[in-house]
Amino acid sequence: MINLSQFSSFFVANWKLNGNLSFIKEYIHSLNQNSANANCIVICPPAIYLSNFKGNANNFYLGAQNISKFEKGAFTGEISAQSLHDFGVNFCIVGHSERRHYFNENDEEVKEKAFKLLENEIVPIICVGETLEQKQNNETIKVITNQILNGMPNQSNHKNTIIAYEPVWAIGSGLTPTIEEIDIVHKSIRNISKNINNYKIIYGGSVNSENSKDIINLSNVDGALIGGASLKIDDFNKIIA
Ligand code: PGA
Repeated sequence: MINLSQFSSFFVANWKLNGNLSFIKEYIHSLNQNSANANCIVICPPAIYLSNFKGNANNFYLGAQNISKFEKGAFTGEISAQSLHDFGVNFCIVGHSERRHYFNENDEEVKEKAFKLLENEIVPIICVGETLEQKQNNETIKVITNQILNGMPNQSNHKNTIIAYEPVWAIGSGLTPTIEEIDIVHKSIRNISKNINNYKIIYGGSVNSENSKDIINLSNVDGALIGGASLKIDDFNKIIA
């Protein structure tokens, strides 16, 4: 399993359902080669394209966007953690709000998926975050705490699991919490328990080349999960520079 403590910042490109062969070729060609060694760059394309990155992944790692909670068997259309491992995938996003929303993924499933990933030496990036309504009702910390306590397997620790704080209302909207709010939420996550205190915690939700520096510079933020801006190679290069 990859050693998370060797990195100070994580930049995870979540392509979602985007990209094609020519886009990938150009992307690999244009990706900034000079990002600091302490930066861990993770590219998460649609699973079908993972093979197109193989052999090129010398300055970045490969990540998947989702995984089956099942190991094997009659589960048409699913991809197992073991096949990702066979393929050399080091990271996998779990519990993204789009999966929770469109595919009814709940904390129990997030936990099962994260467990399967750990069994196969893949780092789960467990996403948590509040909706706008929950934020307005001052429930942010309560919601996130529950998602973490219910969605993180017992086998998780700071060396093998990353937490991503992604406010649902900030994803793809161009809106972000204030810098102070991000700091407070990340600090609150650290305060959930002694065990969680030293986890790598990254922020996601409308991160772009203009706001990334202020966010990353927060002492409680260990990187970013980037959707839209990760598809614009110039922007992504600026973010990881
Ligand atoms: P966004 O997406 O950067 O486009 O807001 C982030 C995410 O969904 O992980």
